[in-house]
Amino acid sequence: MTDILADVMPATGPVVLEAIHLRKHYAVKRGAFKPAATVKALDGVSFQLEAGKTLAVVGESGCGKSTLARSVTMIEPPSSGQLLYDGRDVVGRTASEMKELRRTVQMVFQNPYGSLNPRKTVGSILSEPLVINTPMGKQERRERAVAMMAKVGLRPDQVDRYPHMFSGGQRQRIAIARALMLNPRVVVADEPVSALDVSIQAQVLNLMMDLQEELNLAYLFISHDLSVVRHIADAVMVMYLGRPVEHGPKDVVYSRPRHPYTRILMAATPRVNPALRAERVIPKGELPSPLNPPPGCPFHKRCPYATERCATEVPALRPVDERLVACHFAEEMA
Ligand SMILES: Nc1ncnc2c1ncn2[C@@H]1O[C@H](COP(=O)(O)OP(=O)(O)OP(=O)(O)O)[C@@H](O)[C@H]1O
Ligand code: SF4
Ligand SMILES: [Mg+2]
Repeated sequence: MTDILADVMPATGPVVLEAIHLRKHYAVKRGAFKPAATVKALDGVSFQLEAGKTLAVVGESGCGKSTLARSVTMIEPPSSGQLLYDGRDVVGRTASEMKELRRTVQMVFQNPYGSLNPRKTVGSILSEPLVINTPMGKQERRERAVAMMAKVGLRPDQVDRYPHMFSGGQRQRIAIARALMLNPRVVVADEPVSALDVSIQAQVLNLMMDLQEELNLAYLFISHDLSVVRHIADAVMVMYLGRPVEHGPKDVVYSRPRHPYTRILMAATPRVNPALRAERVIPKGELPSPLNPPPGCPFHKRCPYATERCATEVPALRPVDERLVACHFAEEMA
């Protein structure tokens, strides 16, 4: 590992998406007489996403998950850092160079109601990416759309229907189908099942896992729900105030979380079998504002294990026991 990658969890297979020290800072006004402040929504996130694998990003509301999704898809380019699609740097490309690269990484949004144009039929929603990016004729585009509908479990005779004629789960299938029209290698899914009934969530997750296997897709799967993540992830990155605090293989992180924040998230996850529940650690206080993050460890005001050192010294993200952790006392969190 080179120096700059010392805080990256190294991949074991071919890497399709790599983020190196991504930052996204927003300038926000605080009223007429106050200077603008900076929200560090993403503050140095690095990871390698392997072909055919799922990296889940978890953390509570406001920790920067959607900002990460918008940055890695270049919907909103990052303020700084490097982003590589299939080893090719994407930040700073011209629009025409970007058009080609953009096909590699597609996005599925949380809200299947808001993300589909209500005035277009499923057929035209699915054909749209082909109009812009391929020389295909109308008939061929329609055939592709129908074939993709079948792949995601929709009936071909539904091709001329409008989004409102479908259930929430079916709409999310349409959104997944749209993301796959250009044969991407990576799908970034921002809370793709959070808006769905629990009974429907498993069906959509199973579909995503089947498609992953068939098409060798890599997922950056964003969720606040650790029970969903446990089902689908190969690796897990836990974020707090715009930074990763723990990142490693799913089994390693779930069986023995070493960051106090990960332990709290896991203790808050309902489990059917109480014997399997992680030791309950009571979280203290609210998530601090990213406008005014605390000094030292960003988690110290809520951490049950905080010491004086934690209030002044920022813990580096470092390898401990097969994962990366940003806690001074990670070794002691047995
Ligand atoms: N355009 C923006 N301008 C200013 N601040 C922003 C902007 N977008 C996001 N933020 C701030 O950045 C932080 C991270 O937001 P983000 O939406 O990425 O969180 P999240 O983890 O996706 O939360 P949730 O679980 O609620 O979806 C928040 O403090 C948010 O208020
Ligand atoms: S560095 Fe200190 S405050 Fe931060 S998570 Fe570890 S023990 Fe808690
Ligand atoms: Mg979000």
